[in-house]
Amino acid sequence: MNLELLERGEERYKIFCTPCHGLQGDGNGMVAMRGMKPPPSYHQDRLRQAPNGYFYDNITNGFGQMLGYAAQIPPRDRWAIIAYIRALQLSRNAKVADLPAELREKLNQGGTSGAKPGGEPKPETGSVKEATGEKKE
Ligand code: HEC
Repeated sequence: MNLELLERGEERYKIFCTPCHGLQGDGNGMVAMRGMKPPPSYHQDRLRQAPNGYFYDNITNGFGQMLGYAAQIPPRDRWAIIAYIRALQLSRNAKVADLPAELREKLNQGGTSGAKPGGEPKPETGSVKEATGEKKE
């Protein structure tokens, strides 16, 4: 995969798929807004886990109420579109583990540091724990 393919996919996706599936793949394109059955969002586990070949097959042959695009979209462009859909999915569902280490570190610091809202910062002495049996949460 390269940037060129991705850009090609984006362009083709916007022409052929956006009217129904929406710019972000949520399934809220113009056509769906006008009363047609809304397409499913790409941002659900089932479609995140579906193999590329599944998308390829759907683009080629259609799926349920969606017509196939074998006549309008040549195979290379179908793969480009799939690459773009994968990028859309990733952009929405990046996991912490996918982040570079330094960013992860920042996230962790932000998540666990500081006082709890409404609570006193815990004193660093052993004696308080003993006295109150204070719990972490
Ligand atoms: C005219 C509206 C329309 C266009 C244009 C369209 N789709 Fe769809 N698409 C749908 C609808 C509606 C469904 C759900 C069909 C059903 O469940 O009967 C669907 C389903 C799908 C699915 C299967 C999802 C699942 O639930 O398994 C994929 C993948 C998909 N579309 C990809 C694409 C791609 C890629 C393009 C562009 C090349 C595209 N669609 C263009 C309306 C459209």
